[in-house]
Amino acid sequence: MAGDRSDSGRGEGEREAHGDAEIAAAAAALRAGDLVILPTETVYGLGADAANPVAVARIYEAKGRPRFNPLISHVADLAAAERLAVFDDRARKLAAAFWPGPLTLVLPIRADTPVCDLARAGLETVALRAPAHPVAQALLQAFGGPVVAPSANRSGRPSPTTYADAVDETGVSAAAALDGGPCRVGLESTVVALLDQPRLLRPGAVTRAQIEAVIGPLAEAQDDAKRSPGRLARHYSPEAPVRLDVRTPEPGEAYLAFGPTAVTGNVLNLSPTADPREAAANLFAYLRAADRTRPTAIAVAPIPQDGLGEAIHDRLKRAAGYVG
Ligand code: TXA
Ligand code: MG
Repeated sequence: MAGDRSDSGRGEGEREAHGDAEIAAAAAALRAGDLVILPTETVYGLGADAANPVAVARIYEAKGRPRFNPLISHVADLAAAERLAVFDDRARKLAAAFWPGPLTLVLPIRADTPVCDLARAGLETVALRAPAHPVAQALLQAFGGPVVAPSANRSGRPSPTTYADAVDETGVSAAAALDGGPCRVGLESTVVALLDQPRLLRPGAVTRAQIEAVIGPLAEAQDDAKRSPGRLARHYSPEAPVRLDVRTPEPGEAYLAFGPTAVTGNVLNLSPTADPREAAANLFAYLRAADRTRPTAIAVAPIPQDGLGEAIHDRLKRAAGYVG
């Protein structure tokens, strides 16, 4: 596997250079119908050729997904995306504002879309994203077609935000793995459907307010569990139970603090300066780290709900098993 250098997953992050040979080998693996672990700026993905149903089936198997959820097709840029789906003005505006970056658009498929049925779970729509991470970009350029990539965790577990966690989760199923350092954003992309009224299907790094500034109000997400079938209530979960909005943890609990804290002991601080970006980037890795201490529960400090806080709360509620 690629990227097994001693400095993997630390320090240089996205600036880490990848040899052309490593990228070419990963692209060849995709062409052969094999799976590839790839870094993105949000979380690590487990990638396959979106046009190859056998390769896509391998993803569901590797993740142990209980049923077939539609997957995001990753492309290098807007031009590549327009070969897969029908873009309207709103979609073009959002792509211009946020691509490459952590925004996924759900759009009607083109009649000649190469994205296979299984990748779309049979829907007449497709989810598209152009990731910003330079290693993901290099792979997409070298491969030349759409790459489906769900988060590289096994089903129901927290998304991996480091190379080591990704390899730990699904490396056994991958023919190649690319190390892009720790993920800068740390939460999955924002998912917006542009089918009738624009709808927020999954809050993420691009905030509701940022999207509304470009295309106007987003409709309320009512029956979005159906529209975005991947959104199970219990998701992103560590082994230990998760308790939210805790100021004073119980003995035996691990504590995820936010901002200055007087709590001592088994404590990890998501952001000592109370910066939501830093907390988002640390969230999944710290849930995993806290879990490894085998606590009676993981208690999480109160975190503001506005801006990026909406996405952080969404993931925390799912980790805690609340219906969301
Ligand atoms: O940041 C991300 O988006 C990461 C990285 C690897 O790009 N990927 C990711 O993929 O989070 P995944 O499979 O874990 O989540 C995809 C989400 C699911 O909630 C799925 O239901 C939704 O997108 N989705 C995909 N296609 C859809 C469609 N056609 N209609 C509605 N929702 C769709
Ligand atoms: Mg996922």
